[in-house]
Amino acid sequence: MACDRNNLIGKNGKLPWDIREDWNYFLKTTYNGILIMGRHCYNEFEEHAKKREVIALSRNPDQHFPYAHKASSLVESLQIAKNLGDNRTIWICGGNNIYKEALPLADRLYLTEIDAEYSGDIYLPAWDKHFTKEISSQTLQTSTTELTFRILSK
Ligand SMILES: NC(=O)c1ccc[n+]([C@@H]2O[C@H](COP(=O)([O-])OP(=O)(O)OC[C@H]3O[C@@H](n4cnc5c(N)ncnc54)[C@H](OP(=O)(O)O)[C@@H]3O)[C@@H](O)[C@H]2O)c1
Repeated sequence: MACDRNNLIGKNGKLPWDIREDWNYFLKTTYNGILIMGRHCYNEFEEHAKKREVIALSRNPDQHFPYAHKASSLVESLQIAKNLGDNRTIWICGGNNIYKEALPLADRLYLTEIDAEYSGDIYLPAWDKHFTKEISSQTLQTSTTELTFRILSK
């Protein structure tokens, strides 16, 4: 999850910002894993889904995702991910509702804090009751802002 100072994460189905370092960190960190995401996130990510193992969520039985497995609940998506096997890391990639459902189940939280304010319409759910221990924190100064890449556990 990457958020601005106000916990904003999305705007009109896209990221509110265009920060190369944030996007590259996401792609690199999740590279070999299995990505679980909601339908809106999938639409934004589709180009990359061709080269990744992605499970996209929708409750609509007619919904089809050309480059992803489809699940109709988080539980079903986790079962599909386990069946895909290889002990690969399963990454919950949002959006809001899926983050909320997954917070009690996830082992780690990868949180990127962006030291700036943007406009948008999708916010992070409250995560601080679930993840209380910081494992690491690294700060990076970009040409426009400062990013803090945090990893937290329970
Ligand atoms: N900054 C970040 O780290 C970050 C990360 C992720 C996303 N985002 C941003 O957040 C926005 C997208 O998030 P979002 O919350 O609007 O949408 P989303 O979670 O990507 O998609 C919502 C849709 O996913 C399906 N869905 C959600 N929960 C489900 C469940 N439990 N079971 C089955 N289907 C489920 C539903 O599809 P149906 O309507 O088809 O049933 C729902 O309408 C974008 O702006 C994106 O850029 C930002």
